[in-house]
Amino acid sequence: MPSPSENNGSETGNRDARFARWMQDLKVMMNPDPDRDLPDSLVTSPDSAIWLDTKVTKNASRIGLLIDVPAKSMEFYLQELPPHEASDLQRHNHESVHIVTSGGPGYSEIGERRVEWNTGDLIYTPVMAWHRHYNTSDTTVRILLVENSPLLQGLGLNRRESAGNIPYKDLPKSSS
Ligand SMILES: [Fe+2]
Repeated sequence: MPSPSENNGSETGNRDARFARWMQDLKVMMNPDPDRDLPDSLVTSPDSAIWLDTKVTKNASRIGLLIDVPAKSMEFYLQELPPHEASDLQRHNHESVHIVTSGGPGYSEIGERRVEWNTGDLIYTPVMAWHRHYNTSDTTVRILLVENSPLLQGLGLNRRESAGNIPYKDLPKSSS
């Protein structure tokens, strides 16, 4: 455990770094040049994904974090859903779009609706609507997932909830 003086040192260093960043942001704000002030990483390889296994996701799908994409208002993930498996039933207060890059067919429960999809389709899940994705095929479904969660994160309003690995019809009435 660090001593109090070490702690103060690191807090001061952190504060200095935050102030330096604020000054840098101010400089850019006063003299914006989007063509000059480019992020370092403009191309992200799917190989850079940091994968969360099913012990972390607590459902059949693996999620790959694409944290090198420098977008400020969107987040990007890869998702793999094994044959004849489903994700958990969840909802959140960000919007998301699932782009099926390979595999399928499958379907999703989104609120009270069941929607079919296949390779190339975009699946939209609205704010706070319960949803669950099902792979009905014999091959792994691969998905690129886009969320606007950083907008809410910046305001401290990002929330998500999982009802577990159940279909929408089994959702307790108090949760809907
Ligand atoms: Fe979701």
